[in-house]
Amino acid sequence: MGYKRRKRKWPGPWKAVRRCVLFFTTICVIPLLLVLLVTTDHYLRPLRHSLTRHEEDIADRFFYVRSGKPKTNKTVVLARLKNRQRHLYETCKALGLDKVGNDSLHRPNAWEFLVNEEHHLVWCNVFKAASTSWMYNFNLLAGYSPKFLKKTKAVPLSLARKKYPRPSPQALMDAMTNSTSFLIVRHPLERLLSAYRDKLQYSMPHTYHRQLGNKIITKYRKATSPKSTPTYRWPTFPEFVSYLLDCVKHNKLLDMHWTPITEFCTPCLFKFDVIAHTETLQEDQQYLIEKAHLEDIIEPQWKNAGHGPTSKQVRKYYSKLKKSQIQQLCNLYRYDFQLFNYSIDGYLELGLPEENMKGNNASK
Ligand SMILES: *[C@@H]1O[C@H](CO)[C@@H](O)[C@H](O)[C@H]1NC(C)=O
Ligand SMILES: *[C@@H]1O[C@H](CO)[C@@H](O)[C@H](O)[C@H]1NC(C)=O
Ligand SMILES: *[C@@H]1O[C@H](CO)[C@@H](O)[C@H](O)[C@H]1NC(C)=O
Ligand SMILES: *[C@@H]1O[C@H](CO)[C@@H](O)[C@H](O)[C@H]1NC(C)=O
Repeated sequence: MGYKRRKRKWPGPWKAVRRCVLFFTTICVIPLLLVLLVTTDHYLRPLRHSLTRHEEDIADRFFYVRSGKPKTNKTVVLARLKNRQRHLYETCKALGLDKVGNDSLHRPNAWEFLVNEEHHLVWCNVFKAASTSWMYNFNLLAGYSPKFLKKTKAVPLSLARKKYPRPSPQALMDAMTNSTSFLIVRHPLERLLSAYRDKLQYSMPHTYHRQLGNKIITKYRKATSPKSTPTYRWPTFPEFVSYLLDCVKHNKLLDMHWTPITEFCTPCLFKFDVIAHTETLQEDQQYLIEKAHLEDIIEPQWKNAGHGPTSKQVRKYYSKLKKSQIQQLCNLYRYDFQLFNYSIDGYLELGLPEENMKGNNASK
């Protein structure tokens, strides 16, 4: 009875309170939920990405992009960089590559360098070794805004060349005496695979590299190969390597994406302050950015992360080659191996023995 009476007595206020509570929770909770959804997604995405990458290939040493400054021991980093410099100097001398001469190995090649006079920074742009990221940085240093660089369709290198004309060897040497100079190197066979995957495999129609790909197919694809071959629109890695090795044999000029660094930057004829390796890039470029006082302009990051070959891919592609082809590639890049202390360990073993080759041109 009392209950009934009470209910009849206070129907309005209770309902109003309940409605109010419902109303405000709805108003507050929905945006809160939305914010939560957006941010967790934002945080989870890279995490998810790295998790799948991790599962994909545990041995992938290079392509993690960590946020924030890496915790490094500067003494160790500096010692490593000094060690590389000394190794380069001594090896150049031992191989006679420090002597100026009139061939591609001994003629100082300033063509590929970018000189930023304002910030006293000099870089030899080795393609497929963090070049996307540093081209972006050089464009930032040249004064292009991040916004512009994000939306422009212009080729980054063309933008850069407007601000950084190609120096003469003498001008470059002068600039280098009063600058921080650097180059970034990478395992030669990894760089080669990265170039193949980036430029030839899946190249778009009507591009230079698609045309090159078609030429390679015409010349190196065997009409008698089994089934799958004719349908693969791009040259396979073995086809590409056959083409490359023939170019070398006939002394043809090589594409800039796979020219040996020894000829591309002639590192024995210019003295670099920092020789960064992609394997230790985070730490090396952290040091570089601090040394050149660019902390306020450049955030160390790797724009091209995720596109390079992992060791899984190295295994996949190099196991399609003949041992003799891998051996010849090592010979093509022999100075890069020696000057930058890379090893062919693990590569030769991937190759196929000669008699085991039937049909292998067919798969990619
Ligand atoms: C850095 O490494 C060196 C040599 O391994 C060591 O002596 C030094 O204590 C380390 N410094 C820091 C801050 O960890
Ligand atoms: C270098 O070699 C080229 C031919 O390869 C020749 O035309 C040129 O005169 C030579 N230059 C010098 C300085 O010897
Ligand atoms: C070298 O660079 C410094 C600034 O880093 C500048 O003050 C100096 O004038 C330069 N010296 C020469 C010879 O260009
Ligand atoms: C060259 O690399 C090997 C490991 O691959 C290392 O043990 C050696 O110290 C390096 N040499 C130099 C001079 O950096």
